[in-house]
Amino acid sequence: MERVQPESLPGMTPTNTKTACADAGGLDGVDLPALANRVGTPCYAYSAGTIRQRAGDLQAALRGLDAGVCYAVKANSNLAILQLMAEAGFGADIVSGGELWRSLRAGIPPERIVFSGVGKTAGEIAEALEAGIARFNVESEDELHLLERLAAERGTVVRASVRVNPDVDANTHAKISTGKSANKFGVGIDEARNWFAASAALMHVRLDGLHVHIGSQMLSLDPIREALQRVAAFRRELVAAGHPIDCIDVGGGLGVCYREGRDRPVAIEDYGDVIRDTLADFSGRILLEPGRWLVAGAGVLLTKVIRVKRGRERQFLVVDAAMTDLLRPSLYDAWHDIVPVTREPRPLQRYDVVGPVCETSDTFARDRELPRCEPGELLLIRTTGAYGSSMGSTFNSRPLAPEVLLDRGRYAVVRRRQTLEEMIAGERPAQQWESA
Ligand code: LLP
Repeated sequence: MERVQPESLPGMTPTNTKTACADAGGLDGVDLPALANRVGTPCYAYSAGTIRQRAGDLQAALRGLDAGVCYAVKANSNLAILQLMAEAGFGADIVSGGELWRSLRAGIPPERIVFSGVGKTAGEIAEALEAGIARFNVESEDELHLLERLAAERGTVVRASVRVNPDVDANTHAKISTGKSANKFGVGIDEARNWFAASAALMHVRLDGLHVHIGSQMLSLDPIREALQRVAAFRRELVAAGHPIDCIDVGGGLGVCYREGRDRPVAIEDYGDVIRDTLADFSGRILLEPGRWLVAGAGVLLTKVIRVKRGRERQFLVVDAAMTDLLRPSLYDAWHDIVPVTREPRPLQRYDVVGPVCETSDTFARDRELPRCEPGELLLIRTTGAYGSSMGSTFNSRPLAPEVLLDRGRYAVVRRRQTLEEMIAGERPAQQWESA
């Protein structure tokens, strides 16, 4: 894939690249007001320096382990972000044919790709088999038999892990919790046991792995430890029963700080130690599927105040970003810190920060204390590098926002703002009628 050529803005000096929150006015050495003038708002900006730093910190925490990182593409699937992951030596955790296609396009080698998800279609499985991905994380018996049949048709033998649902509460928002038996993900240990017992009949699927992912935005290691202990015990049982396990995929789910001073993410070294301790007697390959932890803090959503609307009960700060650009507050009542880019001292004021979309849930913050804002004011919605642009939509016929990668004082537009023509490409008035 061709590299995007960065552009420079005048007067830019490198600033602290360690954290996207380092300085509201500048990020990765790029002046944000100048950037907003060039690219327009709303617009996502990602710090390449922060992503590289996170990748390095994770690798350091895993030192000594036979571990590979498969970045969860869904968190931020922009090609430029995937390219950074490829450069870090990471693979990809995909959940669709589209994510497979993107990952390969970005230069992630197929032998570093794992395929998760409860709804893999025959077509998607076939594409992944033909691409030669590393392994499938299988989530139902039906899928296992389909995989066997499709691999047989191609005369190949494929590696697969069973996604175990360990029935552990991830202690996170219900909508991003996946490891309880009531959730659709994975299969219980009893069912997994039966699959292994019957696995000799599989000629084209080598069932030699276990996979677990119990939820996202976890701020405690306890549920992760508990889930891994259950998986580790199950592995011992399987080995004793004559089923060698070559790979354990520990999933993703590490939380980040969305609310400064409140959220306390775990230290990455401690996470590494939990993996080291719980899998101490396992000598095979360990895979990880982090998404949010790698990219969330690297991103900001730049938005301008359209107007200040004084309601009877509340003041509304109406901004030009909407739930179509960042769905998390509407969908999960998620908190994102919001700060003006200009830091001149001003009196504080309470606002509901809302977008222009015709939904009451198009609200980024309720009753939030902010420095008093005027129309035209540039705001940063922080920690939006994960599950921001990748969950965007064109509801209300709003074009998808641009994305910009920042790196040591330069920026590259890595997705331009969608044009209206692009938005309706594929649509047409009903003219050609056919029978089916
Ligand atoms: N592996 C599997 C199988 C997953 O389902 C997920 C996320 C991950 C890895 C990566 O999880 P992470 O490290 O990013 O927590 N839209 C929601 C998050 C949904 C996560 C879905 N699965 C949000 O905005 O919070």
